[in-house]
Amino acid sequence: MLSDKQQKIIDDLWDGLSAQQRAWIGGYLTGRASDSAGAFATSNATLQILYATETGNAKTVAQALVKSAKDRGFKSKLTPVNKITLAEIVAFKDPVVFISSTHGEGDPPEMAHKFFDALKAANTSFAQVNYAVLGLGDRAYKEFCKAAADIDKTLSAGGAKAFHATTLLDVDYADHIAGWSDAFLTALSALVGHATPKTIATVKSTSSSTVGFTRLTPLEGTIVESIILNDKDSAKETYHIEIAFDGNLPYAAGDAAGILLPKAADGSDPTPRLYSIASAPSVHPNQVHLTVALAKHTQPDGSTGFGLGSGYLAQKKIGDKLQFYIQRNLRFRLPEDSSKDIIMVGPGTGIAPFRAFVQERAEQDASGRNWLFFGDQHAHCDFLYQAEWQEALAGGALTKLDVAFSRDKKHKVYVQHKMQERGKEIAEWLEGGAHFYVCGAKSPMSEDVEKTLIDIIVQHLGKSAEAAQAYLADLSEQDRYVKDVY
Ligand SMILES: Cc1cc2nc3c(=O)[nH]c(=O)nc-3n(C[C@H](O)[C@H](O)[C@H](O)COP(=O)(O)OP(=O)(O)OC[C@H]3O[C@@H](n4cnc5c(N)ncnc54)[C@H](O)[C@@H]3O)c2cc1C
Ligand SMILES: Cc1cc2nc3c(=O)[nH]c(=O)nc-3n(C[C@H](O)[C@H](O)[C@H](O)COP(=O)(O)O)c2cc1C
Repeated sequence: MLSDKQQKIIDDLWDGLSAQQRAWIGGYLTGRASDSAGAFATSNATLQILYATETGNAKTVAQALVKSAKDRGFKSKLTPVNKITLAEIVAFKDPVVFISSTHGEGDPPEMAHKFFDALKAANTSFAQVNYAVLGLGDRAYKEFCKAAADIDKTLSAGGAKAFHATTLLDVDYADHIAGWSDAFLTALSALVGHATPKTIATVKSTSSSTVGFTRLTPLEGTIVESIILNDKDSAKETYHIEIAFDGNLPYAAGDAAGILLPKAADGSDPTPRLYSIASAPSVHPNQVHLTVALAKHTQPDGSTGFGLGSGYLAQKKIGDKLQFYIQRNLRFRLPEDSSKDIIMVGPGTGIAPFRAFVQERAEQDASGRNWLFFGDQHAHCDFLYQAEWQEALAGGALTKLDVAFSRDKKHKVYVQHKMQERGKEIAEWLEGGAHFYVCGAKSPMSEDVEKTLIDIIVQHLGKSAEAAQAYLADLSEQDRYVKDVY
């Protein structure tokens, strides 16, 4: 078909190309061949990019894809899955890509629960839909990338056509995003006919996998402090543990530490345990502080058994070593604009990241106000970091502190009751642009806090229950209502 001369030109060109350039050329030629006018107009198809995220990685990857799609001449539209219905997806003429992480034990990210419930119940034909799926996960968990795999399964069972193979990435996903993105956009070019490259795609990884940021590249830490925060009479043992390390580990207030555990008796590696970091890097460089509740249970022989992770940490002595990494949470972050107010609800060990927040805000000399809700069983023995909060109040680093001790009075008082009492003021802070954070027990605490927040929005901002839900969903989308719950 080609003359020798033409063949040689192609061979010479091909030999000098990188894998990325070869992938691009593939899409380019497909596009050029299918472009009857011979010109490279921008494709009419809009790539629909839908994401489901908990700690922000999937959103960051989705945003990077918008940019690389644009570089290859595609229009795209970015939507969180909680803002779209199945009916809209079914009606898409456009190709669609889902980018989803997995959380809990194989669960979808919380912001996507409704979408996944609808998907599970779907009895719909997706025959018109052209889709691709990218999953972010962690192979240390039993159900690797289950949420993404479930999307693929449901769509495929409903007759949708995958135009690019479902790809499931581990914690080193950042190393693979550029390659995935190139291959994906090439498949998209083939599907819709063409694309106009402005430049050869040079997709950068969304973040480099620096040492210390995944369980694959942990750091060694040394215990430099371990004290029990509860006083006598307490039913609890909550440890304040300080871990020192060498080197540069640019973590942020709001991140968690992943603690690697010794191999199990059968030789397997237990899933690392996560603990919110209770120190601000600006105040304690080269250290992470943790607030660890020792988990206890009664064993069949009547003796006390301890949780694997908390038991491991509780028995660590000063000078002992351990392996850890930083589990980033890109959503659980202080406002970029430090004049914004923050409201923090953190009963029990949920207090941990707020110790980091208050330290960081003091360091930033933030003009925004800081309001903390704390709760536990008894004021006299369970008021974690009490002296620090009093000092912060006196020094202005904390503007307001509301506490709820559930077992000091006849009627149990929890943080949500304190919130209800302060509803009018919470509503005013939210209307003024405040960020609202919840950390600690997922159930029932964070659910009760959310219900109370919705009540407050109804009562004090005059919204219907439905409008209050939407108000909260908007805050969540702007990362102004964020949870770190477990
Ligand atoms: C993002 C994130 C942040 C977190 N931050 C914190 C934090 O700041 N502080 C904190 O304390 N925790 C935090 N956690 C929770 C923490 O990761 C662990 O889940 C917690 O310490 C319990 O783990 P464990 O290994 O000690 O218990 P596991 O060994 O996982 O056991 C879980 C529970 O089952 C019980 N159990 C275990 N074996 C048995 C058995 N044979 N029979 C009966 N019961 C049994 C244990 O006593 C425990 O209550 C966080 C979790 C996440 C996801
Ligand atoms: C508390 C927690 C639970 C997780 N559970 C799972 C899981 O069950 N399966 C999995 O594949 N990944 C699991 N992961 C890993 C996340 O999917 C992974 O960190 C991903 O990059 C997060 O993306 P996101 O920031 O978009 O939510 C879990 C992570 C955390 C912090």
